[in-house]
Amino acid sequence: MRVAVLNGPNLNLLGTREPEVYGRDTLADIERGVRERAAGLGVSLAWHQTNHEGEFIDLIQRLPDEADGALLNAAALTHTSLALRDALLAVRIPFVEVHLSNIFAREEPRRHSVLADLAVGVIAGFGAQSYLLGLDALVIHLSKRVARSS
Ligand code: DQA
Repeated sequence: MRVAVLNGPNLNLLGTREPEVYGRDTLADIERGVRERAAGLGVSLAWHQTNHEGEFIDLIQRLPDEADGALLNAAALTHTSLALRDALLAVRIPFVEVHLSNIFAREEPRRHSVLADLAVGVIAGFGAQSYLLGLDALVIHLSKRVARSS
């Protein structure tokens, strides 16, 4: 099974960026943890981060070649980007939306995701752990699909 993780704008600054909201783990720390978990699950992992909406769209368009499913933390683009939504509608790949913070308990504009209804599910509020929970949930979802189709 192949999983791609797509990280959006400003997540490269984790560790120093608003640690009271996002914690002290860097993105590299999170990547290490997710890679370990993926290896334990027998999943091959591709990891990406971009600060650019167009590049994020390119990454989504490439997903069908790269992965069976994806973890997406689109960061602030989550709340605004119909272009990301359109890309996800076009590729129709199963994905789990993850957030470090509980976006539903934050300022009003962050409480809505323009992507979430396209996702298998959303995991938010568990810090770096959200990625691990998201990976577990995605792998369970993809395994069930494989079992059903065989
Ligand atoms: C975030 C939440 C977003 O609202 C914010 O813009 C981010 C990070 C999170 O993981 O909690 O950059 O996606």
